[in-house]
Amino acid sequence: DRLPGSPALPGADGPTSVTVRVPAKVNVQLAVGGRRPDGFHGLANVFLAVGLYDEITVTPAGPTEGPRVTCSGHDTHHVPLDRSNLALRAVDALALRHGISPDVHVHIDKDIPVAGGMAGGSADAAGALLACDALWGTRTPREELLEICAELGSDVPFSLTGGAALGQGRGEVLTPLEVGGTFHWVFAVADGGLSTPAVYRECDRLRERRGTGSGVGDVPEPEASPALLAALRAGDPRLLAANLSNDLQPAALSLLPSLDETLAVGREAGALAALVSGSGPTCAFLAEDAVSASDIAVALRDADVCRAARTATSPAPGATVVRAKL
Ligand code: C5P
Repeated sequence: DRLPGSPALPGADGPTSVTVRVPAKVNVQLAVGGRRPDGFHGLANVFLAVGLYDEITVTPAGPTEGPRVTCSGHDTHHVPLDRSNLALRAVDALALRHGISPDVHVHIDKDIPVAGGMAGGSADAAGALLACDALWGTRTPREELLEICAELGSDVPFSLTGGAALGQGRGEVLTPLEVGGTFHWVFAVADGGLSTPAVYRECDRLRERRGTGSGVGDVPEPEASPALLAALRAGDPRLLAANLSNDLQPAALSLLPSLDETLAVGREAGALAALVSGSGPTCAFLAEDAVSASDIAVALRDADVCRAARTATSPAPGATVVRAKL
């Protein structure tokens, strides 16, 4: 018997593999404040989890093998397979905290667009963390898991919690939000990705060029929009459409002007609103209902303005263990 609170030996009496499913996100409001001295930007970031998922499976690996990551799905050649992979960094962080050797094989089955502004990398980190916690029997308190998530990246805590939340600070300080209905979305997945730091840099550059400055004192404090929060609470797609906003959109469009046409095609096909998802380049279209969403997806495919058009609903649950093999 082990001492209370001490971790099980990996694989001793626990599962031999654990699979966790983690949703993508869209930002229904992304208000970006000035660049802080640490290089991050203060945010009022309203996250909504959407039903596109990565599945992360962890299995014990021999100590000689060490931790490793493999990946299946679209565009996976862009996913780093070394220790810089955020999922492996999550494994390392949890192992360190519990004094365990991080010898696992992490397999990522990707359905979330890579470098698409939908928190795919963050999802994999949150998923690997939760999966290893179950595999190792470490029973890390939720608060500690969220702390590790925040160290890994600004969007990682939300990938763990899912649902809807306001992210403040650099996005990692979460307040859960109420959502009163199901929203129907279409996502136009671009051919390549956009680098998040590059999009924030471009946002700063555009602000400097406007002459307003890009520092903390130069840009208004970001605040969540009361009308947007009311739209979420009401579950009203028209109200939500009227209040969507993304301060990173001009920067994403400046780096990838072709996104303008993608947004226009979705609007013409009946989207209530169109916006770039987070730092892009995925474009998000809010639809009245499931039928309209599928019409918009067809129009986007026919116009050949994206690699894929996917429909999904929100909100979606956060990281969840879906399989554990004994
Ligand atoms: O937190 P994360 O590692 O995901 O952030 C990636 C990059 O995005 C940061 O290095 C920074 O350039 C930018 N970022 C930012 N302000 C935020 C979040 C991210 O400038 N609030």
